[in-house]
Amino acid sequence: MFPVTRPRRLRRSAALREMVRETRLAPTDLIYPLFVRHGKGVRTEIGSMPEQFHLSPDTLVEEVGAAREDGVRAVLLFGIPEAKDERGSEAWADGAAVQAGVRALKSAYPDVLVITDICLCEYTSHGHCGVVHDGRVLNDPTLELLAQTAVSHARAGADLVAPSDMMDGRVGAIRSALDAEGFDDIAILSYAAKYASAFYGPFREAAGSAPQFGDRRSYQMDPGNVEEALREVAFDLEEGADLVMVKPALAYLDVIRRVKDAFGVPVAAYNVSGEYSMLLAAAQRGWIDRERAILETLTAIKRAGASILLTYHAREAARLLG
Ligand code: PBG
Repeated sequence: MFPVTRPRRLRRSAALREMVRETRLAPTDLIYPLFVRHGKGVRTEIGSMPEQFHLSPDTLVEEVGAAREDGVRAVLLFGIPEAKDERGSEAWADGAAVQAGVRALKSAYPDVLVITDICLCEYTSHGHCGVVHDGRVLNDPTLELLAQTAVSHARAGADLVAPSDMMDGRVGAIRSALDAEGFDDIAILSYAAKYASAFYGPFREAAGSAPQFGDRRSYQMDPGNVEEALREVAFDLEEGADLVMVKPALAYLDVIRRVKDAFGVPVAAYNVSGEYSMLLAAAQRGWIDRERAILETLTAIKRAGASILLTYHAREAARLLG
């Protein structure tokens, strides 16, 4: 008891504070999400996400080369299609932007882990994550399309696939399709507990994927639920997910902790577009210290139990962690 105990003794210097720090970030924790489209020499800044860009396969290679220099070892690719249709058929087209981006990256930097997002919302004319009939998003007919997309990404050379659609049974469908094509060593990072969140706003502008009618609440989770997140994770693990994700991160730190404690598997968390843009907007106005806020945010997500952090701050964070 005070004055014998004085917690401040261990806070007296940087060397001491760093020695007793319980949660340490490392560049190897980070996954850097990127948006790929067709073309050459494209580097168009995304209005709702300052300092993030639409890239073509060639500029994607440049960006990932620079990120690799910063210490980033893993990327997650989203595709911007040339044309959309009812079923989102460009998602599984061999020559589509993601597939081209994966090929370019794997030949330039075979050591960089390339993860692809599996979903239809960027590719469908209605902007929903599955097949639509009579205003409803149909579950089972969507599974085959997602599985086909995963196989197409694996053929292009993706190291992991990450289904983000929230259809029931999609992890199992993707696992069997990959296995049937000889891709039994390609891991699945499942967006297992993905909430219907306002924090995806900036992403929908970046990916042009806003639903044209209704919203995603019939498939993404209700923000009030956590027991349900545990069930979702359990189902995905049973279906063959290798890694599970909670998304978004900041408003769901308790969900990350519950998932980590219940399953003990590596948990990923997605520091989503809205979280990124809020921080940058406040920093641009001089209201918060950008670098400290980034490291504090990522430390909090890791402290909550996530060991894999998907973040648009990846390059800057890796540089700061040096
Ligand atoms: C596709 C998908 C979304 C995000 C990742 N994959 C958007 C959505 O579900 O509406 C969001 C990523 C972000 O906000 O950074 N389903």
